[in-house]
Amino acid sequence: MDLILASQSITRRRILDAARIDARFMSPKIDEENITKSLIADQALPRDIADTLAEHKALKISRKNLDSLVIGCDQILVFEGEIFGKPASPEALKDMLSRLSGQTHRLVTANVIYKDGKPMWRHVAICHMSMRTITSTEIDAYIDAHWPDVKHSAGGYHFERTPDLFSSVRGNWFDIMGLSIDPILRFLNQHQAGNPFQIPRLAAVLGHPIAQSKSPLMHGHWLKKNQISGDYIAIDIPPMRFNTTVRMLFDVGFSGFNVTIPHKEQALAFADDMTSRARRIGAANTLIKRDSGKISADNTDGYGFMTNLASQNSAWNPSAGPSLVLGAGGAARAILVALLEAGVPKIYLCNRTRARAEDLAADISDCIEVIDWEDKQGVLPDVFTVVNATSLGMIGKPPLEIDLTNLNPDALVTDLIYAPLETQLLKDARTRGCEVVSGIGMLLHQGVPGFEAWFGHRPAVDEELEALVLT
Ligand code: ATR
Repeated sequence: MDLILASQSITRRRILDAARIDARFMSPKIDEENITKSLIADQALPRDIADTLAEHKALKISRKNLDSLVIGCDQILVFEGEIFGKPASPEALKDMLSRLSGQTHRLVTANVIYKDGKPMWRHVAICHMSMRTITSTEIDAYIDAHWPDVKHSAGGYHFERTPDLFSSVRGNWFDIMGLSIDPILRFLNQHQAGNPFQIPRLAAVLGHPIAQSKSPLMHGHWLKKNQISGDYIAIDIPPMRFNTTVRMLFDVGFSGFNVTIPHKEQALAFADDMTSRARRIGAANTLIKRDSGKISADNTDGYGFMTNLASQNSAWNPSAGPSLVLGAGGAARAILVALLEAGVPKIYLCNRTRARAEDLAADISDCIEVIDWEDKQGVLPDVFTVVNATSLGMIGKPPLEIDLTNLNPDALVTDLIYAPLETQLLKDARTRGCEVVSGIGMLLHQGVPGFEAWFGHRPAVDEELEALVLT
């Protein structure tokens, strides 16, 4: 089956890629503006306008590609009976957003399939988009930040980049993105003999900021490698808008999320239930929508840490003796819980800000002894595991200054930092004859349980993935 998408939209192309559909992409040049004008003059309904535009695009490509199935689509934004196009200027955008603020508008998405220059199928989806009330100052800040990105979009927004502009949505993610993939797949499955196409599942990493996240690269690799129908994106959500936005994203079809700074505590509170490790850590990095509709929270940081140790050093024995953990942030918390659950009998916890370490120890277990930052070298002869969970030693940060002369050569040393891949701490430990484990594996392994829950396949952590994430 030769399939052509008559569109130049990167978003629509991504949806077909996510569904693992092999298609060609062609850009039909039609005079959208004039066709729309004449339809409006004829008092055509918004759905008929979108449908006619989709038809024009499909027909143009179909005529030159007889025998191929051609998908044409169009999306229009309708508010109070008026069609909103692309904003002509920042001032026009301000006017548009001021009108949409606090109101519900509709996105009408028309899809048609043509063959041999004739229509075979059509579908129109309507999404109801309720924008929250946005102040004039907020609109100005939004325009400053987003104008170059949104000037080509009807209504002046990209839902996937700023879903926090909305308070609720009635509709489906793919319809909002401009291609109704569910009914398209149903049509294609009736007209092709091979394995049926599956509706893509959706997951994302949520944070603020989020551009630095390696998770889309990692999950994208797993999806592609295993030919799974699905997509994984990064979404920036300001802390104030976390609950409303996550609820809305689940409503439009997401199966779950990874959650990173600063949302991990809010994510735990958001969930209907949680794993015991998430409860003990007091934070979630994974949200999963169950078949019942309930949202479960998990924290896989400790799991990632432990699996990484196990996969790189099978000789490591947690009960051999005490551990030293440097740092008392969120990462340290997950590691303390994981080490204790693995059977480490005692942990020395050492942090620049001692009070933070004391709070953590009081919260987690009396097997944790807090020591002064200056005393970290003093316990080295006594410990069998050393973990750096501070940001010291990371590229751009100060070095971690610790003399390992008295460290037991049988000890294992691990660093959560993976940029650089081998920190000075690990280099020094290797010189001392210790086993060392780098931090990259923790990042990779912590993603596994979420991926399996959302996409139904347990992915492999291998060198190919590591190389990809490190580039
Ligand atoms: P995360 O959630 O990734 O653990 P975090 O909460 O910012 O991040 O924690 C960073 C850790 O690095 C903390 O233990 C921090 O020590 P403080 O609690 O005293 O802030 C530690 N850290 C950062 N910069 C440091 C420095 N210059 N010297 C010593 N410790 C430092």
